[in-house]
Amino acid sequence: AQLEILVVGGAGYIGSHMVEMLLEQGHRVVTLDDLSNGHRDAVLGGEFVQGNVGDAALLDQVFGEHQFDGVMHFASFIQVGESVIHPAKYYHNNVTTTLVLLDAMRRHNVRNFIFSSTAAIFGEPHYTPIDEKHPEHPINPYGRTKRMVEEILGDYDQAYGLKSVCLRYFNAAGADPEGRLGERHDPETHLVPLVLQAASGRREAISVFGRDYDTPDGTCIRDYIHIMDLCGAHLLALEQLVAGGESAAYNLGNGSGFSVQEVIDTAREVTGREIRVIDAPRRAGDPARLVADSRLAREQLGWNPQFNDLHTIIQHAWNWERKMAGVG
Ligand code: UFG
Repeated sequence: AQLEILVVGGAGYIGSHMVEMLLEQGHRVVTLDDLSNGHRDAVLGGEFVQGNVGDAALLDQVFGEHQFDGVMHFASFIQVGESVIHPAKYYHNNVTTTLVLLDAMRRHNVRNFIFSSTAAIFGEPHYTPIDEKHPEHPINPYGRTKRMVEEILGDYDQAYGLKSVCLRYFNAAGADPEGRLGERHDPETHLVPLVLQAASGRREAISVFGRDYDTPDGTCIRDYIHIMDLCGAHLLALEQLVAGGESAAYNLGNGSGFSVQEVIDTAREVTGREIRVIDAPRRAGDPARLVADSRLAREQLGWNPQFNDLHTIIQHAWNWERKMAGVG
């Protein structure tokens, strides 16, 4: 059935791919984004409202004009290091404004919520791959904001019947295979786009943050999940809630880890270009290995990721980077 969906933060990296997918599948979309980090031209259709998710009056207006089947919330700050230096910014933007959104949903009787959570809620892993039973001990304010919202959502379900699915992303990467969208953070902090900027010439080199980790090649291992697979899980989760499903939380990764060095080597193969590497010290708060156990999402959502191959993920990201850099 055709759904009407509010996508908060729909002009950002993940949100814009979500909007594209929803529109392609024939759903009606309203995007709310204040463009503090998003890009207006990344919203490929539907209705666009420029504003902040913490603006209750604006939310009343938007919810009053539509009958949403669900809300997807992508509008949060995501830089771990910054969250340590400016926790207030993170607690306000990631927790307080989410409460304003949830309370608007209550006022307007919208019951289905899909929340962008993170592997950072787990902190330093006790074991890998990380399943949903893994203890949650976030080690920075960013991770704590996400865990707090997950807890709030549990209470809101219990008390108000607001249903939610929390999706804990591991490392979102890649881009729309059609090349219309991609990752455009400013400043960029994520490994894949940085490596590709070093390949295109938009950046001098890529710094490798530590080669002395307890991993086969000494660099950190992460679980890179293709952005379209990630978005696919959101749609399945929403469909499940709309069909009367219960609240849930899922870890989303592709289940295989790749080291920083493997990402760089693969990027060299895909791009055929030189990539200059600078060995740098460890970055604070980086666990050696973060890999998801996503079996629950596969079982309960019927999720079946299509782009598990690191080559494909990097190829799609490279198509976008070439466009950004204006290289052939
Ligand atoms: N890295 C480098 N050089 C760089 C950038 C990153 O070596 O210039 C390394 C990092 O040290 C890490 C790996 O590449 O080992 C991946 O780093 P990213 O910053 O791309 O991703 P993270 O794993 O740190 O972060 C992701 C999400 C965050 C989330 C975090 C924890 O982007 O939002 O996972 O779950 F908080």
